[in-house]
Amino acid sequence: MKTILITGGAGFIGSHIVRFFVNKYPHYRIVNLDALTYAGNLENLRDVEDKPNYEFVKADISFDKEIMPLFEKYRFDGVIHLAAESHVDRSISNPMEFIITNIIGTVNLLNAARHIWKDQPEGKLFYHISTDEVYGSLGEEGYFTENTPYDPRSPYSASKASSDHLVRAYYHTFNLPIVISNCSNNYGGNQFPEKLIPLFIHNIRNNKPLPVYGKGENVRDWLFVEDHTAAIDLIFHKGKTGETYNIGGNNEWRNIDLIKLLCRIMDGKLGRAEGTSEKLITYVKDRAGHDLRYAIDSGKLQHELGWSPSVDFEKGLHKTVDWYLANEEWLNNVTSGDYKKYYEEQYLKR
Ligand code: NAD
Ligand code: TYD
Repeated sequence: MKTILITGGAGFIGSHIVRFFVNKYPHYRIVNLDALTYAGNLENLRDVEDKPNYEFVKADISFDKEIMPLFEKYRFDGVIHLAAESHVDRSISNPMEFIITNIIGTVNLLNAARHIWKDQPEGKLFYHISTDEVYGSLGEEGYFTENTPYDPRSPYSASKASSDHLVRAYYHTFNLPIVISNCSNNYGGNQFPEKLIPLFIHNIRNNKPLPVYGKGENVRDWLFVEDHTAAIDLIFHKGKTGETYNIGGNNEWRNIDLIKLLCRIMDGKLGRAEGTSEKLITYVKDRAGHDLRYAIDSGKLQHELGWSPSVDFEKGLHKTVDWYLANEEWLNNVTSGDYKKYYEEQYLKR
């Protein structure tokens, strides 16, 4: 039986990966390591928590003393590393947390993997999950490929870029078996309502203003989280050691167009007259250093491993809205307490 460590498994993407691996691979023991920060929520995993091949460990990757003993105890065969501070706006107000978790935390995991695999790296894999934001900002043309030079512009993307470089450095210097993927913006159920889509669903539902940064002309390439999960499964099992794979939805949207589509979908589902939710759109001060456009060329992954995005964006958005409307209690739980303070600092002073 292989033992696989998934870090950040209580978060948005991590919980989808944990559920998928626990159900698809009953012969793997899946250990979910998470510090349960504001973004980590074990409610995301209620349906798998009693499965015999699933275990949760509460630990903080930024503390070497918590990490090394876990690797010695479980002697993991593989690591899928998602734990991170992940929100650009929070990285602008508090960069240091991003440096500590995303850079130091990643190095702690690399050191621990190197320590237990040094004699027998064959068949082992350290899979680092990263973002397209490391490549910087595009103009109106072009796409990020795996060869695009890194040019991160926010403390979040700079900390992820740093961690990517360190993962590659451990491959070249210490022969640690690694693979990296850089994905575009994900959407789907269980995403914390600080990111655009769940925040706006929550606000539309509650008739609150929709804070559009700048003119709403920034472009993102959106991918349904289950398509990302399928790509991660494929890369973990079939990816070539030492390689990087870009993952994207081939699905670019200007923020304002996406927001208007979301408003129309929500009007329909909430039985409101068409145009009601759009009235909530409020243009606010732009994000500092706001990257204009992200767009991914995922040709390498498509040609070499046969992956392609499968979920049509409008259908994915309908599914996502349905999930939040059906899980109001989840939303109420995560938006109580600290969230109110975050919201006030982020939006009411803008
Ligand atoms: P998230 O913020 O929803 O979840 C992060 C998880 O990591 C949480 O469960 C949190 O408790 C945990 N965590 C944070 N600090 C920790 C620490 N010090 N020790 C242990 N656990 C800690 O993030 P997400 O959106 O699910 O993103 C997961 C990964 O995917 C991140 O590495 C992110 O950079 C990457 N990624 C995200 C997107 C996206 O659109 N969300 C796109 C591409 C890549
Ligand atoms: P976000 O979901 O934070 O993802 P990222 O910044 O990592 O791409 O934001 C997506 C886009 O939406 C981005 O261009 C910023 C914009 N945005 C707003 O206009 N208003 C908001 O309240 C938020 C959270 C984001």
